[in-house]
Amino acid sequence: MMAESKQRIAVCPGSFDPVTLGHVDIIQRAAAIFDKVIVLVSINPTKEPMFSPEERVEMIKTVTKNLPNVEVETFGGLLADFVKSHGATAIVKGLRAVSDFEYEFQMALANKKLCPEAETIFLVTRSENMYLSSSMVKQIAYFGRDISGFVPAEIKERIAARIEKLSADTNKCEGVEN
Ligand code: PNS
Repeated sequence: MMAESKQRIAVCPGSFDPVTLGHVDIIQRAAAIFDKVIVLVSINPTKEPMFSPEERVEMIKTVTKNLPNVEVETFGGLLADFVKSHGATAIVKGLRAVSDFEYEFQMALANKKLCPEAETIFLVTRSENMYLSSSMVKQIAYFGRDISGFVPAEIKERIAARIEKLSADTNKCEGVEN
């Protein structure tokens, strides 16, 4: 008799402020392995985000619309509680460099304790995304440089416009004309 197959659900958590090509690569690769991937825009109370959780969800939905098994949600609580309540068995994260490891290792151990039924799985980032981060994208756009090649083309203008506005507002406040 065939064993009853259970849907394998993974959660891809992050701040995604904003989503980068590196994130999209990890989401695509997770979607190829799992039946369902829930991209979770976590609310980190210690960070001041540039985009609201709803804007971040919207941007990720735009860039994953071709992936039918990907859903996008936001949640203000613990990742482990979200994973448990959605019946997920994996937390998928991208690992860029050794510098990511200590923090990710700590998180993985804490999440295993809080939610023993889920495994944290690290996907090694593609070499071209090794250096890429949301904060780097924000800095490049802030100083007026093109962010093509760092973020998906469909949301590039939206990200650049927000950051340029912020940069202009900051300069106005400081009495800088440019
Ligand atoms: O993109 P980031 O900032 O590296 O993502 C970190 C994130 C969102 C995965 C992490 O901050 C998170 O899961 N926050 C939710 C709260 C939580 O579960 N914290 C860990 C307790 S051990």
